[in-house]
Amino acid sequence: MPATTTTEFDVLVVGSGLAGLCAALLLAPQRRVALLTKQTLIDSASIWAQGGIAAVMDPGDSLEAHVQDTLAAGAGLCDLEATRFVVEHAPEAIAWLQSQGVQFSEEAGRLHLTREGGHSARRIVHATDATGAAVQTALLERLRETAGITVFERHMLVDLITTPMEMPTEAAEDPAPATGGWPGARRCLGLQALDETSGKLISLKASHTVMATGGAGQVYRHTTNPPTATGDGMAAAWRAGCRVMNMEFIQFHPTCLYHPGARNFLISEALRGEGGRLLLPDGSRFMPAYDPRAELAPRDIVARAIDAEMKRGGLACVYLDITHRGADFIRAHFPTIHARCLQLGIDITCEPIPVVPAAHYACGGVLTDLSGRTDLAGLYAIGETACPGLQGANRLASNSLLECVVLARSAA
Ligand code: SIN
Repeated sequence: MPATTTTEFDVLVVGSGLAGLCAALLLAPQRRVALLTKQTLIDSASIWAQGGIAAVMDPGDSLEAHVQDTLAAGAGLCDLEATRFVVEHAPEAIAWLQSQGVQFSEEAGRLHLTREGGHSARRIVHATDATGAAVQTALLERLRETAGITVFERHMLVDLITTPMEMPTEAAEDPAPATGGWPGARRCLGLQALDETSGKLISLKASHTVMATGGAGQVYRHTTNPPTATGDGMAAAWRAGCRVMNMEFIQFHPTCLYHPGARNFLISEALRGEGGRLLLPDGSRFMPAYDPRAELAPRDIVARAIDAEMKRGGLACVYLDITHRGADFIRAHFPTIHARCLQLGIDITCEPIPVVPAAHYACGGVLTDLSGRTDLAGLYAIGETACPGLQGANRLASNSLLECVVLARSAA
């Protein structure tokens, strides 16, 4: 058995994606924070995010429209209170990110808002087609400047440490508080992690532990997720007695690049938002036959339509064509996708892109309230790991980075 050492902090944050970084930055330096990541700080799904962050920023748009679009995409299973909470806090989440040094794309001195499937208005704040990289890079710079955060890279969460709570006398009259439900309630005291370099187990103790470990896309053979998306935080919280919810709702992104050299490269929905059309090998469009919103229908509808066409025609993939927008527009708006496809021999300025649907996002997760509190006292879950009720059966595009920031702020 490897030796164990114990260290004490105020807050443990597991995961260095957007939710984890935001929580750590918001808590330090007032709190002693430990930030754990099982690879390095730059390994997360957030850094791969292309599209952007949905927020009502245009006077012609409305919070109610964003709420209604979210509910419609979620197929009636979103929690209305959670949806309103996240949508209403979106503009201040954008302002906070800007205050941390995140540079979003602008046009004529104002934020450029792009469009994605299921949105009835242009409301996607973005940094060209590499929003996650821009956000994570800026926040990691802040992290380096912030005192009070101890980073543990290559430390793998093994399990949570819990203990029975003493029941206060007033608890007898309150059999079902929001968190840490009586009777038999337990409290989270911290966690055990494996130091992957030394092979030693360490115990980290804190009064508050935040799970921000991302999703579980690696359960699937085809996924847009990084190799780290293995559901560790969801599983550890569940083992510790937390409820999980909506785990059956795995979102498939309609357009993952179909190429043997790049199995999980996303082709952002923003390409369809800016006019990209889905084509069969003979060059014909098929989305108008499935939904009046055609390529801009919510992604579950588009993914199912592609899957149906692939099965009907025995196709290995379909094609996404944006060539009609012209080379200058394409290079300016989609520099990352253009460069990556070119490396693989596909010039998206003059030829369509082969695409297939792939597992993209876990809409469910550890059940939380709107401050990220789980069933276990002292344990919080935020980001893709959590299920505060926003995403319903199907997440609206670009509502996920948004949820990371809004819930990290309320949890902190
Ligand atoms: C994309 O760029 O298509 C992904 C955006 C998202 O998953 O919200």
